[in-house]
Amino acid sequence: MIQRVTCAKKLEGEIEVPGDKSISHRAVILNSIASGSARIGNFAQSEDCLSTVNCLQKLGVPIEVCGDNNILVKGTQLTEAEDILDAGNSGTTMRLLTGLLSAQPFLSVISGDASLRSRPMSRIINPLRLMGAQIWGRDNDSKAPLVIKGGGLKGIEYDLPIASAQLKSALLIAGLYANGKTVVIERMASRDHTERMLKAMGASIETTGNEIRVSSSTLKALDVIVPGDISAAAFWLVAGTIHPAAKLMLKNVGINRTRNGILDVLQLMGAKFEIGNQNDIGGEFVADIVIETSSLRGVSIGGDIIPRLIDEIPLVALAGSVAEGETIVRDAQELRVKESDRIAMTVKELSKFGIVIEELPDGMIIRGGRKLHAAECDSHGDHRLAMMLAIAGLIAQGGTSIDNAEAADVSYSGFWQDLASVSCKENIVEH
Ligand code: S3P
Repeated sequence: MIQRVTCAKKLEGEIEVPGDKSISHRAVILNSIASGSARIGNFAQSEDCLSTVNCLQKLGVPIEVCGDNNILVKGTQLTEAEDILDAGNSGTTMRLLTGLLSAQPFLSVISGDASLRSRPMSRIINPLRLMGAQIWGRDNDSKAPLVIKGGGLKGIEYDLPIASAQLKSALLIAGLYANGKTVVIERMASRDHTERMLKAMGASIETTGNEIRVSSSTLKALDVIVPGDISAAAFWLVAGTIHPAAKLMLKNVGINRTRNGILDVLQLMGAKFEIGNQNDIGGEFVADIVIETSSLRGVSIGGDIIPRLIDEIPLVALAGSVAEGETIVRDAQELRVKESDRIAMTVKELSKFGIVIEELPDGMIIRGGRKLHAAECDSHGDHRLAMMLAIAGLIAQGGTSIDNAEAADVSYSGFWQDLASVSCKENIVEH
C-alpha cells in the first residue's frame, strides 16, 4: 500500500497512543503460565502482539480477545502445538517464547516472516543451550525457523554480550523453570518490564545493581492495565517539536526510566514539553505530555542512553535534520539487525528529502538546518520507518509517498487515523 502525506499547515489535538507493545507481550505471556485468570486492559492489538496471542493459543492457552482492547487469559499447563508457531514480524514474540519453550517438555517449531527469519537468534540459542535446552536453527543454528526440545533446565550465570531486553527476558522466563538460580548480568540497562511484572506476580526475583537473579517460581495471575506506548508517542513528540505550528497533547504515556531516553534527548535538543498527571499504574509510571513547536539544536548521543531509546533513533535522525548544527548517533549497531537495517534504511530514505546524512558503522551523522522537500520513499517493510517517514512528510514541501506503508500496523494499528486527526484530513491519501 502506498500512503501519501502532504505538508500539514498545522498540527493540533489530543492523541491516546495504543498500549505499550513490550508490556502487552509480557502481560499475555506471563499470565499464560500463571495460576488463575487475568484481564489485560489497553492491550496493544497490533500485529506483533496478536502474533504472541496466536502462538500461545496454539500452545493450549485459553485467551479471549474482547472488544475495547481487553483480553482475558487463563493460566494453564502448556501443551505441544500441532503446527509451527508463527511469530510473524515480531522479534519479541520469537525470543521470549523461545525462552519459555526451552523449559517445556515437548517439541516446538517457531518461525516468522522473511525479516524475522533473517534476524540473529544465536544470542538466545547459546545461553539457553547452556541452561540445558536443545535448540536448532537454520544457518548453523543462528536463524529461524527454530526447533526447540525443552525441559530439564539448570540455572546459569550469564553476562549479556549485548544490551537486549529480549535476550534478558528469554533467560529470566527460562529461569522460572530452572533448577537453581539464574543470574543475568547487564552492563547497560535495557527495558525492565519483565522484572517488574515478574515481581508483581510473586516470582522469586531480585535486582541488585546490574545483576538480576531469578529462581524457580509459580506465578500468580495479574490484571494489567497497559500504559500507552512511548515508542508510539515518540512519533508525535517529534512531529510536535519539528512542525512549525504544532501543539499536541499525548495522554497516558508510559514513561518508565528504561524507555524514556527520547524525552531526555528532546530536552537536550531544546524541545518544549510538559509532563503532567503522573501516576503509578501497577508498577509502571504513566503521564500526559504536551509538546509544541520548538527550535532544536543538534546533539551527540551514544553509550548507555542508546538502549533507552533504541526504537526511536530514526526519529532522532529526523529531528536532527531540522536542528541547528550536527547530530551524531553512535553505539547503535543493534539497529542493523532490527526489522530492517535501520541505519542503512534511515540514511537512504531521509536522504530523499534533501537531508544530508552520513552512515557510520554504529550510527549516523546528520547535518541539521535543512528544509525538507517531498519524497517518494519506502518503509522496506519496517513499521517504525513507515511512521517516521510519514512524520517527515508532514513537514516536507509537497506531497510525499510512502510505499509499503501498511507495515505501520505491526505496532500501531490506528496510526494513519491519528495522523489525519491531528492534521487536516486531506493530508492522507491511500492508494
Ligand atoms: C523489545 C526490546 C528491544 C526493542 C523491541 C522490543 C522488548 O529489542 O527494540 O522493539 O519488548 O523486549 P532488543 O531487546 O533486541 O534490543
